[in-house]
Amino acid sequence: MKVVVSAPGVVKFFGEHAVVYGTGAIAASIDKRLYVTAKLRTNGEVKIAAYDLSTHGVIVTLKPNGEIVVGTDYGKVIPAIAYVRKAIELTREYLGERAGVELEIKSDMPVGAGLGTSAAVSVATVFAYATITGHELEKREIAKLGHRTELTVQGAASPMDTAVATYGGLLYIKPTSSSPIIEPVKKGAELPTVIGYVKRVATTKELVAWVRKLRDRYTKLVDQIIWAIGELVERARVAIEKGELRTVGELMNINHGLLEALGVSDKRLNDMVYAARMAGAIGAKLSGAGGGGCMLALAPNRLKEVATAIAIANGTPIITELGVEGVRVEKVEK
Ligand code: MEV
Repeated sequence: MKVVVSAPGVVKFFGEHAVVYGTGAIAASIDKRLYVTAKLRTNGEVKIAAYDLSTHGVIVTLKPNGEIVVGTDYGKVIPAIAYVRKAIELTREYLGERAGVELEIKSDMPVGAGLGTSAAVSVATVFAYATITGHELEKREIAKLGHRTELTVQGAASPMDTAVATYGGLLYIKPTSSSPIIEPVKKGAELPTVIGYVKRVATTKELVAWVRKLRDRYTKLVDQIIWAIGELVERARVAIEKGELRTVGELMNINHGLLEALGVSDKRLNDMVYAARMAGAIGAKLSGAGGGGCMLALAPNRLKEVATAIAIANGTPIITELGVEGVRVEKVEK
């Protein structure tokens, strides 16, 4: 039996980093997916083949005793494997299931570029493992196990990316001391956006730790920045619902300035953000953890111009549909 599961990438509209401290955030699924194919194995081993991640054709075997055997170590793929391994471990524990599986992972988006691939791989692995071993999981359970995976691998993670990879759509997410608030945001108008990305030089884990250290040194100051981001997220939600795109754009620009103040942007991201604004975007901001990675521009009637400007600023532009379906089974073969 073979099961193919996919989960979408995630783009962050508002509230990244601050959401780790409990503010609201707004993020959307994108029409780029990561696929996990699962087959049962008889010897209890978990074998992982990761294609099209950072490199091609890396085969990793996870022995029943937890030892990871890497066929070819291209370095970068290892962080992605850490999510797969943890997702399986937590799902096995949750389901009380020990069956071995062979997993193949493919992605139509670059891994580690800030498009939420760690959330997509965590959520898709949880769902694929549960499905191939004959268990039915509710979305709420998948999102929770996916979030726990990110949390364990990264040390700190909000439920934002894993919620979007699970449910899809455009979501408002706010962590609480119990279950997070996860609500769809209704669009009062289309949000025509362009994503731009450059290679990342730091991981989400490192950037989240960077903000934490900054907050340790300048607690009051950083808390006020976090508060201001939380405030603009609430206003952005209303503006999106009313279709007030100018306000949405302005709030994106303010959000970028505050993320810059937290020290998570860099020149390459700023270059793309300014290039997009100069080409007619009504708002542009870094999107995600920063340190290179992604930016997002709101550009009604200017998508092509903004995409070209991002390319000239040495970024890779992506024009993609937002708010697509979350994790889903693509194929089941008996
Ligand atoms: C990373 O995609 C977004 C951050 O806010 C971290 C998180 O929410 O877990 C930086």
